[in-house]
Amino acid sequence: MKEINGFSKLTKTEKIDWIVQAYFQGNSSVAETLTKYWNTDAQLQKLHDEFIENTISNFYLPLGIAPNFIIDGEVKAMPMAIEESSVVAAAANAAKFWSQRGGFKTTILGTEKIGQVHFIFKGDYAKLSNFVASIQPLFYEATDSITKNMRARGGGISKIELRDMTDKIPNYYQLHASFETKNSMGANFINSCLETFASVLKEQAQLYAGFSVEEKELDVVMSILSNYVPNCVVRAEVSCKIEELASKEITNPRKFAEKFIQAIRIAEVAPFRAVTHNKGIMNGVDAVVIATGNDFRAIEAGVHAYASKDGEYSSLSHAAIDGDSFRFWLDLPLALGTVGGLTTLHPMVKFSLELLGNPSAEELMRIIAVAGLAQNFAAVKSLTTTGIQQGHMRMHIMNILNQMNATDNERAKVVEHFRDKTVSHSGVVEFVEALRK
Ligand code: MEV
Repeated sequence: MKEINGFSKLTKTEKIDWIVQAYFQGNSSVAETLTKYWNTDAQLQKLHDEFIENTISNFYLPLGIAPNFIIDGEVKAMPMAIEESSVVAAAANAAKFWSQRGGFKTTILGTEKIGQVHFIFKGDYAKLSNFVASIQPLFYEATDSITKNMRARGGGISKIELRDMTDKIPNYYQLHASFETKNSMGANFINSCLETFASVLKEQAQLYAGFSVEEKELDVVMSILSNYVPNCVVRAEVSCKIEELASKEITNPRKFAEKFIQAIRIAEVAPFRAVTHNKGIMNGVDAVVIATGNDFRAIEAGVHAYASKDGEYSSLSHAAIDGDSFRFWLDLPLALGTVGGLTTLHPMVKFSLELLGNPSAEELMRIIAVAGLAQNFAAVKSLTTTGIQQGHMRMHIMNILNQMNATDNERAKVVEHFRDKTVSHSGVVEFVEALRK
């Protein structure tokens, strides 16, 4: 039987037993693998068990460090949780490269968060508009206790607007609200405010003398924050004189700069390329978002919506040659938190935030945008010079060796052998097999 009632009521061991019987023909090695990944510290394991429902084990991601990031004059070591082999090395290389050319600079362009109450109103728009204007103070009064602490920290509700959406769906309107949530990502705060707005809207509609019987039956469909945050944006940039781009790999800096800019232009106009280009940015962004306990699904959704804001999916980064200067920059919408959520609970998140100097949400926006720009620089630099596979496959050697259960001796020989050769999966396999003969 692959279906079950009451799975959540089973103990962790019972859950594993059931999974093993139902899906793995009773194979005990599956249970062994799952329990091997339990933390030996029962307290720590309990903490992880309780993050979600129906936990049966832990799912590791490596936490790596890319050092030497100079961000607005301060040196940072970037914590990165990611499984893709070449990402941390690429970030570290880009950080080092730019640390010798003035480092990364950042600007916060906005910190506004958005939430909406979606509702149906069958009636006269002018009346609705007057009604919403008349109950504005009640939205603020009703949320007074929810917003008190946030206001004390300088945040709160900034604006509540009525939006007419009836050209899209008959009788559909929104309360479109803006918030400042300071160091918290703000999802719970915003959603609590929105649900209160929805109650006020419904209750007051019933009481509003200007409405007909049908108009009083204003119907709220849902109240939820938006992960699209086009006004919660940070810019990260690097720039230097073109000749300063010269390095061991870049022997002709002007040619490099021109080709680099061509690659960025392609990502600006060609969506198939833009998606992969932006994926490279998100390699850096997600790794730090995860390490700092933020919601990477929210970030991903918001970033890609932003990449389409002008009607076609496009590059998030841009580059230009201005006289004898090269400039490369990235605008990223990032709704992040450095308090609440996992920040004090998950020991690795706590470590990552401490490593970054316990940043404010704005500081973390700057740091994460830099991680994205660095990653993008490393990828486009490789793509337009050596090609991506050289570095990629070199980092992938360890995965191939692990698949082959290579011994330490075999590993050392493989690394030595491929030091100055092109790495391919079959090349590594053949070399190890020859060693084993
Ligand atoms: C691979 O994870 C990311 C790249 O494909 C990004 C890019 O093509 O720009 C290398």
